[in-house]
Formats: sequence, C-alpha cells, structure tokens
Amino acid sequence: MEITPEIKEKIDKLNNKFASMGQDINSYLDGLLFADYLTYWDYINLDVLLNLQQPKTSIPDERIFIIYHQITELYFKLCLNEFELLDENSKSLENIKERLRRVNRYFEALTKSFEIMIDGMAPEQFLQFRMSLLPASGFQSAQYRKIEICSAEMNNLVVKKHRGDFSENPDLQEIEKMFEIIYWKYGATELGTGKKTLTLKQFEQKYEKELLGLAKEKRHTNVAYIYKNLSEVEQKDQSLIDEMRLLDLNVNVKWPLMHYKSAVRYLQKDPADIAATGGTNWQKYLPPRFQMRMFFPYLWSEEEIENWGKKGV
Ligand code: HEM
Repeated sequence: MEITPEIKEKIDKLNNKFASMGQDINSYLDGLLFADYLTYWDYINLDVLLNLQQPKTSIPDERIFIIYHQITELYFKLCLNEFELLDENSKSLENIKERLRRVNRYFEALTKSFEIMIDGMAPEQFLQFRMSLLPASGFQSAQYRKIEICSAEMNNLVVKKHRGDFSENPDLQEIEKMFEIIYWKYGATELGTGKKTLTLKQFEQKYEKELLGLAKEKRHTNVAYIYKNLSEVEQKDQSLIDEMRLLDLNVNVKWPLMHYKSAVRYLQKDPADIAATGGTNWQKYLPPRFQMRMFFPYLWSEEEIENWGKKGV
C-alpha cells in the first residue's frame, strides 16, 4: 500500500496527539492491530439491555409492563440530556428552542405510544401481576421529577394551594421550604387517612436529597428562569413561546391524561381497586385539572387556565 501524503499527515497528527500526552504511538498502533471490529450488539450493549427484564410473575403481560416502563425511562433520559445542555454558557435563543423541540418530540412519542399501556395488556392479567409489584409504582420515577425541576421554577411546583406564597427569585433556604410542599408529596397518600404510603416514604428516602440538590442547582438554569432572563425582544419570540407552551401541555396535560386513562381502565371499575393501587388517592391526585401543574402560567390566558386539563386543552 502506498503511504499517500494524506495518510502521512494523519500519522503525524496521531503522533502529535499521543506525544502531547507522553504516549508512544507505536504501542497504540499495536493495539489497533489486535483490536476487534466493533459490532452492533457490543456497541449498544444489547445482551445487557435484553436481560434487564426480570418479571416477578410468570404472567405474560407483565413483560409488556416492564419493557414499556424501561422505554419510558430511556425517553426521560433523552429529555434530561437536553436539559443538561441548557447551562450557564448556552442560553442563546436558538439553543433553548432546539433543546425544547427535542424534549417535545420525545414526549409526543411517549404520549402516542401510551396506548401500549391503555389497550395493550389484558386487564385481568394486569390486576394479577400488579399485586406482586406492591408497593412499587411509576410514582417513584425520579427522572420524571427531574424533568419538572429542569423546566419550572420551584414556586410553580409547590402544591396548588400554596402557589403564589413564594417569591419568584428564591434563595436556597426558600427552595428548601418549597421542596417540603412540592406537589407530589400530596400524591401516593392513603385514601382514608391521608397518611404517606410506603411508596411515597421509600421514594423520599431514596431520592429526596438528590432532587432537592437538583432544585438548588437548577435555580438559575431551569427553562422558566432562563426565559425570564432573556431580553424583552427574545421573550416575545413566537416560536420559543410555542415550544414552551407545548412543553407545558406535553408534560402536564397530554402525557398525564394518557397515563390517567390507563389507571382508569385497569383500576377504577375493579372491586379490588383499593387493594390494587395500595389504596391511594390517585383519582383525586392524578387528573391534570385537579393538579393544575403548569410550568409557565404566564404564557397562558385566563380562559386557557380555566380549561386546563379539560377537553380541548
Ligand atoms: C397500566 C399502566 C399504569 C397504571 C395503571 C398506573 C397507575 C398509577 C397510579 C394509580 C399512580 C398514582 C400513584 C399511586 O397512587 O401509587 C401513578 C403514578 C405515576 N405513574 Fe403510573 N401507571 C401506569 C403506567 C405508568 C407508566 C408506563 C409510567 C412511566 C414511567 C408511569 C409513571 C407514573 C408517574 C411518573 C406517576 C406520578 C404522577 C404524578 O405524580 O403526577 N405509570 N400511576
């Protein structure tokens, strides 16, 4: 083979790269000689991925339930990747819009595919295997909570009755106070007594510190804060406003409505309802029209807020 000037140039560059770190190019060329070709299955870690499903029962549809939750968590991870790219140094209008477009795309895929849960499992099978999974619940998804923390300011994540009680520019102590009454602390509570369920207690035990840490860290890099600190002209950018409104709808209305539909389908009509959900307040807690969770309330008209989570919004 002829050593063309292009090849020579690449070898020189490689040599410089290794030399700059005190490394000998010869050893690395030996390494290349013996290295295997990369395969698809190794690259995406396929064997590990396909072995991550460990059903707790032999009921066939439980596999659908596990895999769909795993798919959802991977989409949540894609969303968080995008929020990570919204940091102190990358608050340009174009960057914000591109990040939001991607997150919206992921949520739209999730909302559309939620039919796999609503229609794609036999209800009698669901009600059987669900009992073997107690007290675990999707409620314990930390990535879902992180998406909210990355999107909104904390004063819009507290439980509805306390929204408006806190300043828009909180210090770290105020963030802690708001975190105490973040809306989800009022979910997964016992229907009769209002006490925290084990589901909620275990979730807090495992993730509270981490989520509070993230809330503090994201204080000035959540989407809402970044938006408010854009110039007046930029704040009026219609395509940015559209993406933000879409994010609000996707995360706080469209996905929750599909999710609620699945809870209603499997849990509401069944007499074992109370037992199957661990006896929680989900019917009062889950519907978006009760939670009224909104990342960017100032981007919605009074009428739109009035109709939040109802048909047509
Ligand atoms: C048949 C399917 C499903 C049913 C019947 C169902 C049922 C429920 C119920 C009853 C709750 C309220 C919490 C509680 O009372 O324990 C809940 C919360 C939740 N579930 Fe599911 N779920 C389903 C699928 C999923 C999937 C696929 C995910 C994806 C990760 C998920 C994520 C969540 C989240 C994030 C919450 C908390 C929502 C909030 O705080 O507003 N669920 N689910």
